[in-house]
Amino acid sequence: MPTLTDIYIYPIKSVKAISQPAALVEEKGLSFDRRYMLIDLDGNFITGRSHPQLTQVDVQFSQKKLQLSAPNMAQLVIDPAQFSTTSLTSQIWIDKVNALHCHQDYDNWFSEYLQQPCQLVFFAPNSQRCVKGRNTPIAFADGYPLLLINQASVDLLNSKLDNPVSALHFRPNIVINGELPFVEDSWSRIKIGDVEFEVSKPCSRCSFTNVDPKTGIAHANQPFSTLATFRYHQGDVDFGQNLIPLNNGMIRTGDQVQVLATHDAILYGSQGDVLQDNKKSVQIHYQGSEITVTGDNQQLLLDQAEQAGIAIPYSCRGGKCGRCKVKLIAGEVETLTNEALTDDEINEGYILACSCIPLSDITVNH
Ligand code: FES
Repeated sequence: MPTLTDIYIYPIKSVKAISQPAALVEEKGLSFDRRYMLIDLDGNFITGRSHPQLTQVDVQFSQKKLQLSAPNMAQLVIDPAQFSTTSLTSQIWIDKVNALHCHQDYDNWFSEYLQQPCQLVFFAPNSQRCVKGRNTPIAFADGYPLLLINQASVDLLNSKLDNPVSALHFRPNIVINGELPFVEDSWSRIKIGDVEFEVSKPCSRCSFTNVDPKTGIAHANQPFSTLATFRYHQGDVDFGQNLIPLNNGMIRTGDQVQVLATHDAILYGSQGDVLQDNKKSVQIHYQGSEITVTGDNQQLLLDQAEQAGIAIPYSCRGGKCGRCKVKLIAGEVETLTNEALTDDEINEGYILACSCIPLSDITVNH
């Protein structure tokens, strides 16, 4: 039977993992996990996808305070007793959350470290956010209360990589040692320690997996590109399983993982499989820049725009944040995902440049 080998929390979204021998599982996930987040001055969330140096912020608990250290920065103590009473509307993916603004001094520290004005917010007792399409509460984790990674799946991925990665590349809350790689794909309900979990959905990955948690340096394309060769399904590149706790309770490293229910696993393929046509040239007209370039029907529009010197804003590069949306004025694209767009935006012709491939000559407005 698999066992729970590691438990991790990330008190502030995107900071370095804290390893724990045991943790209290609450409705929103592990106690103290992702209760803080950084936002820009417009309220948009800031993460390690765009600012990989965030992964080098080390957080230690000291009674009710947090002690932060980061390369070339003085230590910062975050004291909840000093928090303001001001709420800030904070956008995480497509959710808007009323979160508590912590303190200007903390904003200054992070602004200096990230070289960008930002604000630290706290998921207060009256802050509200739910898992998409569910009434399950969640704080500032990406989409679900907990993430499970199977070390055997990491080992299989590593057998395909020149430079092995660790489970921490995938920012898990819990790591287990399954007997087989990807055995977790077929689980629908498990029990660890006192807690039953719904194994809710595979975790759709993005370029954040390319950030080395030890150094905070992002590799150009690995391991994400390799994952895309064998873990691709309907627009997503999946690795790990999202969990929803069904009750509160303690979990401890060494606990056995009991599989209570299973289902058929998704059959994964390669992202390249979606491309049926042979490679052909297409003309891509960027209306905003009045530039037309020759591209192809094999690469993502965002990659092709960058190669042409067109700067389309982006953040996740994985179809999650909506930052790269552009309007398709003419032509046809293969849509890998449009999850980050509203129905109105889709009807108006918006597409995600990071998640679509031109199929014909196209005109986009950016
Ligand atoms: S960059 Fe986030 S959806 Fe495209």
